[in-house]
Amino acid sequence: MSTTAGKTSNAANNESQPKWNAELGIWENAAAAGDIELPKGALWIFGYGSLTWKPAFKSEEMRRAKITGFARLFWQRSMDHRGTPSFPGAVVTLVTENDLKAQESGLLEELHGIAEKSGDPASMLSVHGVAFRLADDPESKQILADLDFREKGGYSRSIQTVEFEDGSTAEALVYAGTADNPNFHPLSVGDTAAVIAKATGPSGPNREYLFNLENFLNGSPKSRDPYIETLADQVRRNISSKEGSVEPGKFTAPSKLRGCFVGSGSDGLQLPEVFETIVSLAGKNLENASDLNVVYIGLPSYDLDGCAADK
Ligand code: SIN
Repeated sequence: MSTTAGKTSNAANNESQPKWNAELGIWENAAAAGDIELPKGALWIFGYGSLTWKPAFKSEEMRRAKITGFARLFWQRSMDHRGTPSFPGAVVTLVTENDLKAQESGLLEELHGIAEKSGDPASMLSVHGVAFRLADDPESKQILADLDFREKGGYSRSIQTVEFEDGSTAEALVYAGTADNPNFHPLSVGDTAAVIAKATGPSGPNREYLFNLENFLNGSPKSRDPYIETLADQVRRNISSKEGSVEPGKFTAPSKLRGCFVGSGSDGLQLPEVFETIVSLAGKNLENASDLNVVYIGLPSYDLDGCAADK
């Protein structure tokens, strides 16, 4: 993050930074980088990604807040949470305007296009999230150590100014993957969506991370993010076109129907017709689903524990 001098950490230029473990895709000491001085007194932490919907730590206060001057983009590869070293997922990081401009042509234009189409061009460099105030007690040390471990996939600590909804501000600790971290991986929206639709890692499917973030942001009209919405729509399209099509002869019908959603059908049946067919067969106990040869279970698959085995 190469913005305000003195407020940022830069993984490449600081010799005290941990080394990269390329095989695992994490810092070698399994902790976020950045040996920075924390603000005195109560500590705020600003979350803009998974921390918005899964903070997993106790705080004294939680407030919606934003930071400006950065774009929140799914440009950070994840091998330890939402992907694996053999198929990395994509999670969010914060990208400065200068780092955006340094990317190959097309990426910045695409982002400008999305922001302009939304009618709110400034949204591109405005990141809404949550600020958490930690208690001024020894337990907070452990919270920070746990966060450093969680953010080991290339993130660094930095201090940024956050603005609360009432206009007041505070200095907050922020974890972001700077443009020089090894997992920084700029991609177009289409390429990012293709990764997210497919990747899964120890923390769960990549799509779950995106949809939870979208859900959090849509919780307030002020925080809606056109890039996130565009990406989530594209991932939904990728998933439904993939899961909704059945190659002839490749489908094995489930022996029992288990309260699944119906994704789509083939054989010319439209979704409502397929659904009706299933419902009526379910009433008859669906012993013979293979007669149907039109049914595909699985939208969205990560929700459907029982269905996954049938695919
Ligand atoms: C954050 O949520 O603030 C950091 C990125 C992440 O863990 O998703």
